[in-house]
Amino acid sequence: MTKEKFLWGSATAAYQCEGAWDINGKGINIWDEFCHSDKNKTGITGDVSCDFYHHFKEDIKMMAEGGQNTYRFSISWSRIVPKEDRIVNEAGLKFYDEVLNELEKYNIVPNVTLVHYDLPDYIGHKGGWCYEGISDEFAYYASVVFKHFKNRIPLYVTINEPTHNAFCNYMVGNYPPNEFNMQHLCECAYNMMVCNAKAIREFRKCNLTSQIGIVHASCLAEARFDTPEYKEAVKYGNMFNNDWVLDPAIKGFYEKELIEKVRKSGIDLSFMKQEDLAVMKENTIDFLGQNAYSRLLVKPYEKGETCATVNNAGNNDGTERAAKEGKTVKGWFESDTDPNIPLNPWGREIYPKCIYNTLLNRKEKYGDIPIYITENGHGAYDIADDQGYVEDDDRINFINNFLAYILKAKEEGVNVKGYYVWSTMDLYSWINGYKKRYGLVRVDYEDGNLKRIPKKSYYWYKKFIEEHKDV
Ligand code: BG6
Repeated sequence: MTKEKFLWGSATAAYQCEGAWDINGKGINIWDEFCHSDKNKTGITGDVSCDFYHHFKEDIKMMAEGGQNTYRFSISWSRIVPKEDRIVNEAGLKFYDEVLNELEKYNIVPNVTLVHYDLPDYIGHKGGWCYEGISDEFAYYASVVFKHFKNRIPLYVTINEPTHNAFCNYMVGNYPPNEFNMQHLCECAYNMMVCNAKAIREFRKCNLTSQIGIVHASCLAEARFDTPEYKEAVKYGNMFNNDWVLDPAIKGFYEKELIEKVRKSGIDLSFMKQEDLAVMKENTIDFLGQNAYSRLLVKPYEKGETCATVNNAGNNDGTERAAKEGKTVKGWFESDTDPNIPLNPWGREIYPKCIYNTLLNRKEKYGDIPIYITENGHGAYDIADDQGYVEDDDRINFINNFLAYILKAKEEGVNVKGYYVWSTMDLYSWINGYKKRYGLVRVDYEDGNLKRIPKKSYYWYKKFIEEHKDV
């Protein structure tokens, strides 16, 4: 039997890189709406970004020349189903057909996400992820995608990062609809998992050879001490950050303890319906996309109201540490800090071992489910020389250290099948705008042609792939 090829690649998302926000029949999405509204304090938008829409051939060629054999990207829902009338925009399908043609030319395996934060605005107006009808709308859109692209896309992802998305929408309030509302957080979280299950049900009807998964943001909750109180905080941290996605997605149901804890916290769970739970039970994922950025370090809950900040919520001008990244969830846990762990300029821990601990835990809890590391990357204020070249040694160290732990977990038996650097090239970093860069390739935003210049990390990654082709 020939050994399956490990996938080595990089990732982007539609709103963050495509640009072309209002052409060829695309509808408005919630990020277009938010970025053009008064709520957007910086005035920075993804209207153009690095204009992948017009540069995709160049970007894909660069992936191929960098030795990458897979590319994770997302489809813009509002490019495919722009309006509430559900009429499909053929020009939208054509754009992604062209992207797929180009990937096929270089034997690059597409890994495609159906929604990466950018809901159509007509859904946003009805309540976004809290809109009761969202799962039927999503299932419709998903079926259009499956029926059109079929097996040309071997790896489909339903939703990018339910946890991070829900927290930013309804707890931090920095993503549209910019609320702090724990009731809405729970409705959003539940609807996301119903959307996931209903899309999978459509997928199964198509009898494809492709596989379908979900991309999960959070690594494990961990604590500095091993006392019963800290252990309990870890349990609640994982219930809050992991279990509500992974249990329904992989096992098909929520554990009773989670539901009871949420109910006791004052949430009205009447939105949970038997028929939805039945769909969840029948429709679970084939693989898990696990993103790798940082862990949730917790301590026992002591005092204070529920609140959260994330890395893009604070002062991000690079002069000082941003707002503490963390959460307090009343009656559950509080975030902790460890003075021995370095932080990035946005206040986020740089702790590569978190991915090793997470992968081992996933295996222990969920068995041999195939896992792709669907994002791992380092945000930085890159400094370019006069040629536009960036010597991003910090990024290289970051990725190298994470990779060492990922490959160690794989050697120890975790079913890791692929790895994606976030991001392929510089792109829009949501509320952080364009100063926080993640790309393997620099984009010169000052240059009229949005010139692409590979960074030191691009060449380093190319060599790393060459040396680890047969892992
Ligand atoms: C992930 C998202 O959470 O992290 C990406 O899937 C995002 O879309 C990336 O860009 C980095 O986060 P940020 O906020 O620093 O751009």
